[in-house]
Amino acid sequence: MDKLRVLSGVQPTGNLHLGNYLGAIRNWVEGQSQYDNFFCVVDLHAITVPHNPQTLAQDSYTIAALYLACGIDLAYSTIFIQSHVSAHSELAWLLNCITPLNWLEGMIQFKEKALKQGQNVSVGLLDYPVLMAADILLYDADLVPVGEDQKQHIELTRDLVIRLNDRFGTKENPVLKLPKPLIRQEGARVMSLVDGTRKMSKSDPSELSRINLLDSPEEIAKKIKRCKTDPIKGLEFDNPERPECNNLLTLYMLLSGKTKETVAAECQDMGWGKFKPLLTETTITALKPIQDKYQEVMADKNYLESVLKAGREQAEAIANPILAKVKAALGYTQPL
Ligand code: TYM
Repeated sequence: MDKLRVLSGVQPTGNLHLGNYLGAIRNWVEGQSQYDNFFCVVDLHAITVPHNPQTLAQDSYTIAALYLACGIDLAYSTIFIQSHVSAHSELAWLLNCITPLNWLEGMIQFKEKALKQGQNVSVGLLDYPVLMAADILLYDADLVPVGEDQKQHIELTRDLVIRLNDRFGTKENPVLKLPKPLIRQEGARVMSLVDGTRKMSKSDPSELSRINLLDSPEEIAKKIKRCKTDPIKGLEFDNPERPECNNLLTLYMLLSGKTKETVAAECQDMGWGKFKPLLTETTITALKPIQDKYQEVMADKNYLESVLKAGREQAEAIANPILAKVKAALGYTQPL
């Protein structure tokens, strides 16, 4: 039987943080041998908020190199840059024309990001989930591994598939495949280091709120030393009164590879003075191989370019026929 297909992506807005890694990329790596995988650097999404043209290209390479450094294996997976495959923009336009405006206006991420932009909200920001739907649907993806915050976007993608198939396909011959989100419970929502009730995020103005995958040992030590805790001795998971405690224990559990039971037993009598150095050491050790591999990949630009060129070709081989199928279903003429 053919393998199920997976598609996912990350925006090239600066560095990746532990939320991106533990919520998404780590799961891509762990599952990759079971699936046929496409991982893109979603650079078209990166301009939905004001961006810097001087750094966009470099940031895209950084993310592609980090995919490899985190363990994405080209034997199982294709890595490519979204803007290199023009079918993404084209399908997004076609989907735009069947998407009710109020579906987009109700999206949580749009409302949150729009609030931060004030008067400067672009149509692209509103349209972000439609482009994301195009990313997924162009590959007939079965599964979309993401963090919890993307669940609503995948629900919208599913609603769009149902709407488009209903209007332009038949029961026996649907135009597009219905994808499912793949969200692991642990790590699906990594919280800020300065406020355990807020998500760790690239757009948080406080650098202290997140640990980036390329942070030096000194930066990691500083951020953990200054992270928010509470005055209670004895550390525990799942106490709603102690969101920081739950978040930091979860980070320790995921980065050390220990089970929840082991960590709960190990830390139940610990104070922060003992736990913080332990988390620091564990984080530095877990990120070291990723950082070493990243340096190796970045030192050979030709190699990275060859990966992205092959990736584009493999992506186009799947995406272009699916775009053609959608256009035919919508009644377009074939180019002569
Ligand atoms: P981005 O770049 O904002 O996030 C990339 C991935 O990281 C996850 N993530 C988190 N997981 C746990 N805790 C956090 N604090 C945290 N912060 C971020 C996100 O859920 C995501 O999986 N819209 C997507 C990019 C995208 C995409 C796609 C994803 C565009 N097209 C198609 C899947 C399929 C996003 O949020 O990127």
